[in-house]
Amino acid sequence: MALAEVRTNYVLVLLLVFLTMVPNVTSSVGVNWGTMTTHQLPPDNVVQMLKENGFDKLKLFDADERIMAALIGTDIEVMLAIPNHMLHEISQDPMAATAWVDENITSWSYTGGVKIRYVAVGNEPFLQTYNGTYLHSTLPALKNIQHALNRAELGSHVKATVPFNADIYNSPESNPVPSAGDFRPDVRDLTIETIQFLYENDAPFTVNIYPFLSLYGDPNFPFDFAFFDGSKKPITDGDSIYTNAFDANLDTLLWSLDKAGFPDMQVMIGEVGWPTDGDKNADIQNAKRFNQGLIRHALSGKGTPKRKGKNIEVYLFSLIDENAKAVAPGSFERHWGIFEFDGKPKYGLDLLGLEEDKGLTPVEGVRYQPRRWCVLDPEATDLTDLPDSVDYACSQSDCTALGYGSSCNHLSAQGNASYAFNMYYQLKNQGYWDCDFSGLALVTDNDPSDEDCQFPVMIAYGYSMLQNRSGLLDVLLRIIVIFSLLLL
Ligand SMILES: *[C@@H]1O[C@H](CO)[C@@H](O)[C@H](O)[C@H]1NC(C)=O
Ligand SMILES: *[C@@H]1O[C@H](CO)[C@@H](O)[C@H](O)[C@H]1NC(C)=O
Ligand SMILES: *[C@@H]1O[C@H](CO)[C@@H](O)[C@H](O)[C@H]1NC(C)=O
Ligand SMILES: *[C@@H]1O[C@H](CO)[C@@H](O)[C@H](O)[C@H]1NC(C)=O
Repeated sequence: MALAEVRTNYVLVLLLVFLTMVPNVTSSVGVNWGTMTTHQLPPDNVVQMLKENGFDKLKLFDADERIMAALIGTDIEVMLAIPNHMLHEISQDPMAATAWVDENITSWSYTGGVKIRYVAVGNEPFLQTYNGTYLHSTLPALKNIQHALNRAELGSHVKATVPFNADIYNSPESNPVPSAGDFRPDVRDLTIETIQFLYENDAPFTVNIYPFLSLYGDPNFPFDFAFFDGSKKPITDGDSIYTNAFDANLDTLLWSLDKAGFPDMQVMIGEVGWPTDGDKNADIQNAKRFNQGLIRHALSGKGTPKRKGKNIEVYLFSLIDENAKAVAPGSFERHWGIFEFDGKPKYGLDLLGLEEDKGLTPVEGVRYQPRRWCVLDPEATDLTDLPDSVDYACSQSDCTALGYGSSCNHLSAQGNASYAFNMYYQLKNQGYWDCDFSGLALVTDNDPSDEDCQFPVMIAYGYSMLQNRSGLLDVLLRIIVIFSLLLL
């Protein structure tokens, strides 16, 4: 029975995919590529990987020249963001908006250049935790950017939008159903004014939706409701039945738009995804279950109960892990990638939403540091300095895998120390003096990883001045050491 159902769905989905592919090839999902990492993979290799996997839409948080250059001549459709810290200036000064568009859009938008389709003005600027910092610069910045695009004669196909956090709308606790949704009272008027401008310019409304965060923030959240394969506790809302948090959230927005007078507003999901470490619910199995379910749903053409019969345009969050992201929201922040820091896929994912268990192609041609690790010297006896050394190593690197519910939480105190030392050592590009820790540490060729807990070897790309200088110093010191040994 279940199998027959799956087969029927499969055929239907195949048919749908085939049908939607005939007029217009946008039957895939987009992906966010964030670059808050200490070690950046070469953009050319990553873009090649995007092409091989069939990602045809990309969202970038910043106009990184090397990434833009790597996208020249590809068919990948790009959404390029303006960081929040630039909103104030761009809102005050139309010339600043023009300069931004000239340098970051127009210069790439020639025939055979980069296919820029959207400009994301800010990132979640109305987020409650920003205390209103960007409230009054966002709409003027949006207007200045769209006008600059129009003046550059790009406005008909490059649209400015604003990716909002889903915290700008909700339903009252007394009636927690999508149809009761509305915009947050403190931002309602501004949001509606923004929507009015987007609507007039035929630009989409963009929102980031995270069922993972709902689950993380609420111990009573029904676990299965976060996913797409049925829930024991669906929500009934009039004639509609909601079996997953994503649809319920999106429809809360669609009802809010309805009430504001925009029933046919175009909506895109700017970010959606599931992390693989840093929390008890963040693992590969759940991430795959969520992302595969999401892709299948978004591309099924079923839509949501409020907007039936349409594909949902989504940008997955995210492409690659970012080891330098702020962890204020939680340790999981550094583990959203579908791919590891070195471009290896964490799990199989079928980007066309078919039911196949398809693998993803890794980033090819990645160079690594030598295969060696820094660990706690098993013969070290005076461990007085150990806690301080571990704290220092972690404060300078990334120990999020050690925390409660994370992949390395089962390590012993000694294992913890080794993990911390190694993360520091790898981040410092395995410098000669970066595995010392008051004599408590030593370098080994034996991989200390176990089945669940990976002790990584860093990739061989780092761009900081400091690392270059310490690299040089390192070579000098090595020569001195060898020289003095020879003299003995
Ligand atoms: C283009 O974008 C980059 C990256 O965000 C930014 O640093 C630069 O100032 C922008 N150019 C202009 C002229 O605003
Ligand atoms: C917002 O306000 C809170 C409490 O006053 C403060 O802790 C936080 O740092 C502020 N955040 C920003 C981004 O200003
Ligand atoms: C290892 O470190 C983590 C994170 O600091 C901590 O939660 C855990 O209790 C430590 N394990 C031992 C055995 O000390
Ligand atoms: C660091 O060194 C690498 C390789 O030696 C070089 O390509 C890079 O430009 C240097 N970076 C800086 C900031 O000097």
